[in-house]
Amino acid sequence: MRGILLAGGTGSRLYPLTEVTNKHLLPVGREPMLFHPLRKLINAGIHEIMVITGVEHIGDIVGTLKSGRQFDAEFTYRVQEEAGGIAQALGLCEKFAAGEKCAVILGDNIFQDEFGEHVKDFEAMDEGAMLFLKKVMDPQRFGVAHIDGDGRVLGIEEKPKEPKSEYAVTGIYFYDPVCFDVIRNLRPSARGELEITDVNNHYIRGRKMVSRILKGWWTDAGTFESLTQASRLVLQEAG
Ligand code: DAU
Repeated sequence: MRGILLAGGTGSRLYPLTEVTNKHLLPVGREPMLFHPLRKLINAGIHEIMVITGVEHIGDIVGTLKSGRQFDAEFTYRVQEEAGGIAQALGLCEKFAAGEKCAVILGDNIFQDEFGEHVKDFEAMDEGAMLFLKKVMDPQRFGVAHIDGDGRVLGIEEKPKEPKSEYAVTGIYFYDPVCFDVIRNLRPSARGELEITDVNNHYIRGRKMVSRILKGWWTDAGTFESLTQASRLVLQEAG
């Protein structure tokens, strides 16, 4: 399975910290933010990884991550010229994925769980996609899953004013190569982006989406509050 680490976007919620560097290079614990999601891919046995980032600070990103040798991995870089959405960024990886399944992780998502077992389970599936949910206090900040009595995901709403559950869709997704056909047919959302939630809803409608609930803590790190929270959790874990 191939890995995709998304480190584009504008980082506007963290201005002025993101004026001179990429959001994903800001410190979380004792390391740059994106080392944490990167390690989740590597710990899960994924060593071929494409890193997507914007034009502005690509030098800083490459200078920090380098070839991947220090992580026992191999990095390929691709530029996303404008922040056209997570699904658009994923769409840039079609050639890299080369017909294989892929694991996509957002560079600002910090997880306690490891994903090795989930990767094995997903590799054993013939087709489809897998997403990971976590119960949160502030679901309206995220993609939110609508779940039936048997725990099946019926649909996802992006940042709903009135969330149908407390389960946020976290920023790690596993896809079969069909995702690239889905992305080709997407239209931009009201915020002008190709939404990963639309890709996920496509799989859900086709009954090809499996969901899992994370056991450990999870946070994004894209706002001042969550950046502080992420550092606190990571430092606490390190002891
Ligand atoms: O954190 C999980 C949430 O991430 C999910 O619950 C939502 O469903 C999903 O849409 C996303 O929500 P955000 O609106 O918070 O995503 P954001 O725009 O902050 O981007 C998340 C990451 O994706 C960030 O680390 C940078 C990367 N990204 C984002 C965009 C818009 C790109 O690489 N390119 C992009 O164009």
